[in-house]
Amino acid sequence: MNWIWPFLGYLAGSMPTGYLVVKLLRGDDIRRYGSGNIGATNVGRVMGRKWAVAVAVTDMLKGGIVVALAMALGVRDHLVLALTGLFGVLGHNFPVWLRFKGGKGVATSFGVMFFFNWFSPWPALIGGAVWYLVMRASRYVSLASLVALYSSVGLMWFFRAPAPYCWASLALAVLSTLRHRENIKRLMAGTENRVGQPKV
Ligand code: G3P
Repeated sequence: MNWIWPFLGYLAGSMPTGYLVVKLLRGDDIRRYGSGNIGATNVGRVMGRKWAVAVAVTDMLKGGIVVALAMALGVRDHLVLALTGLFGVLGHNFPVWLRFKGGKGVATSFGVMFFFNWFSPWPALIGGAVWYLVMRASRYVSLASLVALYSSVGLMWFFRAPAPYCWASLALAVLSTLRHRENIKRLMAGTENRVGQPKV
């Protein structure tokens, strides 16, 4: 088992993009605002939609890029690639640079799942469409994120992706569910933030 790739995955995933954007452009700590999360949704509350999109795209890429690089350099072991993606999301959620207090891993999980299925990116792409539809209908990003992640997991099996990718995707969805504990409580209490609420 070659652990170099999962280790590189963790390092790339641990780059706290959202935290850095707010720190560098505003000199402030994003964890003091909104949901306290370092992810794109919370960056949007503080910095506006353009920065939210920039952080979402970067967070997707940082997860997938190491998986893609490993593939491009000839790694064919599905288990190594699946663990590389999984560790990328662990890096985002538990970055050593922020004392292991990071994000919820949604964008990074989608980036990773996209590259897992180099041959068939449909689970991640359809998951992205599900995310958009649920978000537009409910205006809850957290709800959209969880529904989309589990949809992509189901689609991994539907499209017969190699087993390590299916199980790693399920692990990513469960991990993200655990990271959304407070969002789920707020959703059930009817107090979750909606897109379009005033900036913080
Ligand atoms: O990607 C995270 C999103 O699902 C929820 O973000 O800031 O509302 O907790 P937030």
